This record gives sequence, C-alpha cells and structure tokens, in this order.
Amino acid sequence: MAFMSGFTPYFIAVFCVLIVCFWIQLQREKKTKESKGESGSTSKAKPWVDQDLQDDTEIPSPNQGDEEEDDPGSELDLPHVPYAPPRYAVDSMLERSRDFYTLLNQRRSVRFISPEPVPREVIDNVIRTAGTAPSGAHTEPWTFVVVSDPDAKHAIRTIVEEEEEVNYRQRMGDKWVKDLAKIRTTWVKEYLDVAPYLLLIFKQTYGIGTGGKRKTHYYNEISVSISCGMLLAALQNVGLVTVTSTPLNCGPRLRVILQRPTNEKLLMLLPIGYPSEDATVPDLTRKPLDDIMVHI
Ligand SMILES: Cc1cc2nc3c(=O)[nH]c(=O)nc-3n(C[C@H](O)[C@H](O)[C@H](O)COP(=O)(O)O)c2cc1C
Repeated sequence: MAFMSGFTPYFIAVFCVLIVCFWIQLQREKKTKESKGESGSTSKAKPWVDQDLQDDTEIPSPNQGDEEEDDPGSELDLPHVPYAPPRYAVDSMLERSRDFYTLLNQRRSVRFISPEPVPREVIDNVIRTAGTAPSGAHTEPWTFVVVSDPDAKHAIRTIVEEEEEVNYRQRMGDKWVKDLAKIRTTWVKEYLDVAPYLLLIFKQTYGIGTGGKRKTHYYNEISVSISCGMLLAALQNVGLVTVTSTPLNCGPRLRVILQRPTNEKLLMLLPIGYPSEDATVPDLTRKPLDDIMVHI
C-alpha cells in the first residue's frame, strides 16, 4: 500500500494532463464546426470577425518561420528630405473641406453596374492613388488584382455565388440575414459578370524578402483597409461606382484561380464601372456629426 501511495501524485498529475488535453481537443472541434457553419446554432459563430475571409491555407516554404535578416544599415542610410505640401488660406480650406465632403457624401454602394467600358488608365490611376496609403513601417502590404476577362469574371461569379448561397442559408444566421433585408442583397451577384472590371484586393500577411525569407508586414490589415478607403474616394472622384464586398469563405478558391501566393489573403472584392441607368440604392441616412464626434 505504502508503495502504491508513493505513485499517487504521479497518477493525479497524469490524470490532470489527460483532462486538459481532452478539453483542448473538444474546443478545437467546436471551433472547426463553428467556422464551417455546422454547429446547428450559429448564434456563437462570428465568421465576419476578421478571419481572413476563411483563408487559412498556408503552404510551408523552405524558409518558413525565418524572419528576414535585419539590415539596419540600409534603413539608417535612408535620407530625409524637405517636405512642403500646398498650404491654403483659411477660406480656401473651408471651401475645399466642404467640397470634398459633398463629393464623398454622394458615394453609395451600387449593386447595379453598367457594362459600358471604362478607360483602363483611369483604373490604373485609381489604384496608384490607393498605393499612396500609409502602411505599417512602409511595408505596402497590398496586391490589387484587376480582372476584365469575361471568362475570369464568370469563374469568380460562380465561386462567389456558390459560397454566398451557403453563407446566406447556413453560415450567417437569421439575425445577420434579417439585418441585410433592408439592403435587399442575395447570393445572386449579376454585377460580377456585368461590371467592366472586378478588383480583388489582397492583404499580404507577410512579405517575401531576399532568399525567400519572411518579412514582417506590421498591421497589414489596417494598412490595406486604409488603402481601400482611399481607393473608394478615388473612384468617387471620377464618377465610377462600386460595392464594397467581403465574400465570406471565397478567399482560398479565388486566390487559387487568380494564382496568388498563400501569404496573400483576399480582403475585398470590388466590381467597378458606371452605374446602370436604372440603378437604385437603399434610402439610407448617415449619422449626424454630433453622433459620431466627441470634442474634448
Ligand atoms: C466591410 C464591408 C463589407 C461589406 N460587404 C458587403 C457585401 O458583402 N455585399 C454587399 O452588397 N454590400 C456590402 N457592403 C456594403 C454595405 O452594405 C454598405 O456600405 C452599407 O449598406 C452603407 O451603404 P453605402 O455604402 O451606400 O453608404 C460592405 C461594406 C463594408 C464596409
């Protein structure tokens, strides 16, 4: 008996470890089920919360895990140059601020897009504008994929509609679908065939440096989101329309057909063109300044 009791603490320790392992396994299975929309109750699954549009694909590269070697020399050598942007008189500032607000206040998400061609150079300039966005440590972690080929657009539409149907029927849950009712969106996305351009914006979760080593892309999602905001403003500036879309669960398949590497995750899909003649938008109002600003 005395011999056995000497082992008791070990048995207790092993028992505890087994319990913890079992609990971790249970949590993993639950998480997988939730992300696949199989949980039965969708109330706890929140797939719209920053999950890279469900792209967990990662093919290990030979140097995976390696951070790029620091090269402090090249950073320190970067010259700093004088900077003097235009300065406006107060009257002019007021007028410009009003005009810019008026322009952007006219922006609407438009889901009825004309097939009328749009000059390619305009799209290039809009993307150039997006590329002026600030980014964490100036890593510029964005890739803009412009699609105008009809077959490629149709392949994208097929994937998006297949996944969106499952999103609407299973993954999103009743509340989300009800919240969207006023916008009258469904999984049918005709504009993906019709719009002259589809723009798929990828965030680069890390960069590939010299010798295939990983380069940290700080705050890549925030950086790319800022860039997208600037892009929307640039589209408004030239009279083109789009609808910001974040097609849930489409990321991996779209990435594969567009031949983008695994460090790139789809953030946004924008159909771009002129609005169709019979385009309508929901009659939404925006919060007044007092509701969105706090002045201390
Ligand atoms: C992050 C984000 C994701 C969105 N995803 C979709 C989407 O998948 N499909 C869609 O039709 N609209 C989508 N929208 C557009 C919103 O429905 C739209 O911005 C909102 O109703 C306000 O309308 P407005 O853009 O005309 O001001 C999205 C907007 C944002 C900012």
